[in-house]
Amino acid sequence: MTESLHKEMLELTRQLQEHNYKYYVLAEPTVSDKEFDEKLKRLEILEAKFPELKDPNSPTQKVGGDLTKNFETFEHKRPMFSLGNTYNKEELVEFDNRVQKNLGSNSYEYIAELKFDGLAISLHYKNGVLQKALTRGDGKKGDDVTKNVQTIRTLNTTLIGDFPTDLEVRGEIFMHKAAFKKLNQKRENNGLSKFANPRNCAAGTIKMQDPKVVAQRPLDIFIYHLVAPETNTHWEGIRMLKTWGLKTSSHSKLCENIDELLSFIAFWDKERHQLSYDIDGIVIKVNEVECQHQLGYTSKFPRWAISYKFESEQAITILQKISYQVGRTGAITPVANLKPVNLLGTTVKRASLHNEDFISSMDVRENDVVKIEKGGEIIPKVVAVVTEDRNEHNTFPFQFIQNCPACGGRLNKKTGEAIHYCTNHFCPPQVKGRIAHFASRNAMDIEGLGNETIELLVDRSLVNNFSDLYNLTFDNLYNLTKEIENEDGTYKKISLKEKSVNNLLRGIEKSKEKPFEKVLYGLGIRYVGETVARKLAIAYKNWENLSRANKEELEQTNEIGNKIAESVVAYFSNKGNLEALKELQQSGLQMTYSSTNNQISKKLENQKIVVSGIFEKYSREEIKKYVRMHGGTIQAGVSSNTNFLLAGNSLGPSKLEKAKKFGVKIVSEEQLINMLDG
Ligand code: IVH
Repeated sequence: MTESLHKEMLELTRQLQEHNYKYYVLAEPTVSDKEFDEKLKRLEILEAKFPELKDPNSPTQKVGGDLTKNFETFEHKRPMFSLGNTYNKEELVEFDNRVQKNLGSNSYEYIAELKFDGLAISLHYKNGVLQKALTRGDGKKGDDVTKNVQTIRTLNTTLIGDFPTDLEVRGEIFMHKAAFKKLNQKRENNGLSKFANPRNCAAGTIKMQDPKVVAQRPLDIFIYHLVAPETNTHWEGIRMLKTWGLKTSSHSKLCENIDELLSFIAFWDKERHQLSYDIDGIVIKVNEVECQHQLGYTSKFPRWAISYKFESEQAITILQKISYQVGRTGAITPVANLKPVNLLGTTVKRASLHNEDFISSMDVRENDVVKIEKGGEIIPKVVAVVTEDRNEHNTFPFQFIQNCPACGGRLNKKTGEAIHYCTNHFCPPQVKGRIAHFASRNAMDIEGLGNETIELLVDRSLVNNFSDLYNLTFDNLYNLTKEIENEDGTYKKISLKEKSVNNLLRGIEKSKEKPFEKVLYGLGIRYVGETVARKLAIAYKNWENLSRANKEELEQTNEIGNKIAESVVAYFSNKGNLEALKELQQSGLQMTYSSTNNQISKKLENQKIVVSGIFEKYSREEIKKYVRMHGGTIQAGVSSNTNFLLAGNSLGPSKLEKAKKFGVKIVSEEQLINMLDG
């Protein structure tokens, strides 16, 4: 008996360590907080029963850690504690009973605050100037991420008002949902992997090595705690933070009893979806600092505060079948087809299963009862298998396919990668996907060429590649008909009538005016997103030059790394691709870069401009584009021939000094906008 329990303890320890690592270091958790807490609680119970079996390094003894190798670490002056979690009214009442008992009275108040879903940060100010920003780390020491934190626009790095000489505050860094979506979209366009949710994105961003890249990611912050110097009450502390120019939340509430707390919780459980950022619960804090001292801390948590975690948006259903999707690059994605279930007002029928490793690590099987969750993503994910409800007679370990479900071609999985790829270039979903990408809005923007029309054209063998689009005629297309299967298994007939044929032909013709960088992006070369395509177009001017460039030359190009270089070389070493490009040229597409593309005006013609700092309305890349669109040339450094320095906040001191030295004019973002739009 003890032996099997010991085994369970070891297994729980292993799992919890792995989850901690995934959460804090990789910023890619694979279980919900609730599940994590349940496992931790179970381990705590077993450790209490069998103290002799307890591992001194047990996860129950630790505050999860986000320490990484890449930053200098510093000891926290005062430890950074985590918060205990409650999930229901009963647990909250228990917390209040403990507080009352320990204080020996009920003359205290609570402050209820939103629990922002980001990452904790400790900020040290000296004489009103930000000195150091440390992550929580293991609670005792944290990573010094000051340079990255300094780029957060909503954080005052210089305080105002009557601030104390030495100040330590704590808060949460996060990303707004809209900014997260935009960033992920951009990453997808550039062939990069997407972040799972805003929290992971914020945590991943703050751990980046280049503050310039961090500055381009719109992070935000709420300060929720004045640590030192102390005030009489937490409420008073928050008021002081505001007077020093620090951003605090306006949604905190003073509550006199549990009922008031519960109604605050119920209100935000509903209203949280209206906020522009994610919250995952409510934090409840004893207001009087004297009472906080009296209550003190356990080894991990304050006894004067606790969090109330909202149920994440989960549902339980049956995984009826695992099917596969083939993407335009040939990537195979397994998909869970679910018994339809309601999740936050929408019916969910499918969830992503990511890849073979994900399926085998969860041992998820067809006919299993599964728990699904909606994170920041549109497609929900399977987060757990309810193994207690598994029927051993109709579930079998799942075998990943070896051949492409669409064309039967061989699948290939590179060592070290998780994704299987279909190696057949002519596999129909890949062909369709490539054409859809070529026609998409950010590429050739071909009006009238939606997915259904693409299906029709490919299935009738009228189009096998995007270059074939330019040979289509009215007679080819008129009255073309096909039955297409609906999601529910029924069929609908689509047929191209005169109006849609003309519309499509007009759209195809118009796409010939699209600049070379759009064509290059439309080719769908792996890792060549919009930004890279533009860089390559500028550097190589036309497709022939680019097709002749070898890996070393490509790697010399600004911001082109070896992965992109390899992919470009592989693309142009394929004869079929070269043929298609020749055909595009013969069809009259723009196959040469022209710097006058996208020109709005010549207001900045012959002007050499250096852009530095952080801007309010535009990102630095956007503002550079804006300058180019008005004919200006961007320079990397200030020199005697610079016409002006376009300066944002936190401007680099060396640039400012050089501008002064050479007498270069300094122009603000607002002045530039007035100059160009006026
Ligand atoms: S107070 C000792 N207040 O929740 C007090 N924490 O597990 C500790 N969090 O990562 C923190 N919103 O960063 C506090 N209003 C809030 C919060 C908050 C989010 C985070 C905190 C930490 C986690 C605690």
